[in-house]
Amino acid sequence: MSDQDFANTSDPLGSPKAGLSSDLDNLAAYVSSLTKTPPSPYRDAGGVLTSEGLAGRAVFESRRCGFCHSGSSFTDGKRHDVGTVKPSFGLGIGQPLAGVGFDTPTLKGVWNTAPYLHDGQASTLEDVLNSDEHIIGDALSAAEMGQLVAYLLQIDDREAAPAAVPVPSSSPWDLIVLASIFAAAITGIRMRSNRLKTIPTSWERPN
Ligand code: HEC
Repeated sequence: MSDQDFANTSDPLGSPKAGLSSDLDNLAAYVSSLTKTPPSPYRDAGGVLTSEGLAGRAVFESRRCGFCHSGSSFTDGKRHDVGTVKPSFGLGIGQPLAGVGFDTPTLKGVWNTAPYLHDGQASTLEDVLNSDEHIIGDALSAAEMGQLVAYLLQIDDREAAPAAVPVPSSSPWDLIVLASIFAAAITGIRMRSNRLKTIPTSWERPN
């Protein structure tokens, strides 16, 4: 790659590097070919969800995790701020990360991929979920946490895409939430999502 090409594409989220270096193109082709997730050893002997895992799938649905962890890859491919941005993180593509956040990761194979989150700040799945900004509604009970973690540990290529989560409707409550988010944006006060009974619209960020 020439120095000029390198300078033009040095921003990892900026102009694409495709076609500028055969080594990089080959590397990208190899990484793109890695589409299979190893089977989870946490499933029962027949390869289906355990009863704890099945209960966890119901928690996953009732807590609307599939709003972002959606589709057959358990990701919407978008960025969201779920409370993992620290003030020291600086900028992403020249913009503050707060309120924009990081790409939703797949949940396939998480039994094998600790530590978690973009910088490994969570050593366990419980650490990921002990977050009032990642969880909709009240904190998870101990039973819900156990079931949800059991389910997450069993998500592999055999798991079907989660049920679609409807985008929040415009009920009067949603309008109140929208107004509060707007007011919070003006005053610079960040709203804590554990006070919400609905999905905060500040989570919906395009790529
Ligand atoms: C608003 C969108 C959104 C919702 C709703 C959501 N997540 Fe996430 N999730 C994310 C994003 C974005 C990240 C990555 C954050 C980071 O890397 O800092 C993430 C990361 C994770 C991770 C870590 C995966 C890894 O490989 O590091 C797990 C596990 C997870 N979420 C599970 C859940 C569960 C279970 C629920 C429901 C209780 C849920 N998420 C709800 C957006 C969401």
